[in-house]
Amino acid sequence: MTRHFLALGDAGGDALAAMLGDAMDRKVARQDLPKGLPDADAPLAGRVLAMVFEKSSTRTRVSFDVAIRQLGGSALVLEAGNTQLGRGETVADTARVLSRMADAIMLRTDDHAKIEELAHYATVPVINGLTDLSHPCQIVADLQTLLEHGKALPGLEVAWLGDGNNVLNSLVEAAGLMKFNVRIGVPEGYDSDAGFIAQARAGGARIDLVRDAQSAVRGADVVVTDTWISMGQAHAEAKLAAMAPFQVNDALMALAKPDAVFLHCLPAHRGEEVTDTVIDGPRSAVWDEAENRIHAQKAILRWAFGQI
Ligand code: CP
Ligand code: NVA
Repeated sequence: MTRHFLALGDAGGDALAAMLGDAMDRKVARQDLPKGLPDADAPLAGRVLAMVFEKSSTRTRVSFDVAIRQLGGSALVLEAGNTQLGRGETVADTARVLSRMADAIMLRTDDHAKIEELAHYATVPVINGLTDLSHPCQIVADLQTLLEHGKALPGLEVAWLGDGNNVLNSLVEAAGLMKFNVRIGVPEGYDSDAGFIAQARAGGARIDLVRDAQSAVRGADVVVTDTWISMGQAHAEAKLAAMAPFQVNDALMALAKPDAVFLHCLPAHRGEEVTDTVIDGPRSAVWDEAENRIHAQKAILRWAFGQI
């Protein structure tokens, strides 16, 4: 059966753990190689990844491109605005055609229903490169970063600050799969998806919703935030005002554990959701996190091709 990666749950906890191990092993194995040189075993030699972007991207685009090269394959980028998809060709027909021309498809889009439709009609693996609902690839890189920084996942106390968005939904999904806890500090009216929370709780994670940043962060092992205004959302002064008390700054970080790690998927809006002192400070792991997008994508691709 074709393996699609629309959510972390498509792989499940055991496969996710195996993917994280694979990502870390391959990262170490090739650490001195030039970035464009394939891994010695080139496990996806000859495979073509088609990437379709309906939204902007730096990290997802570059990391998938470099990831598939390192696995021995190649990538091509379709900016949806310059494709027939952007002129009204159906998602179903696009899926059928790309399945004949490429070995896997990555889509970054708005409405999550669109990627589900693409996966329904595709006969090759479809990977979620971000939708308005979720960003599972990001969270694989985040979990890898935490492991590398000595944080075992079960029982970990993770604090999320700011908007209840797509990245938070995938973080919460991961909590249920990997058995860590999330304290969500989000202002009233900006909550994340209730379905992901219910599912994570059913999986054994403790997910707390709090309305003040201090209680979210107190005693946390990990502090995570993201932009207050995601792609496709209107710039709203009211939202920025509601988010202001949730800024991750030195005073807030002082409430977390002394060895707490700070994560941000990037791009950051310095001076809004995070201060320079935190993102550039000693507890920030954001550049490792960004680099790990490459290593995580390789594991996701290998899983999609049945190699993990
Ligand atoms: N974090 C992330 O997905 O970054 P890009 O939007 O640059 O791909
Ligand atoms: N929540 C952000 C993540 C960007 C990688 C967005 O959707 O714009």
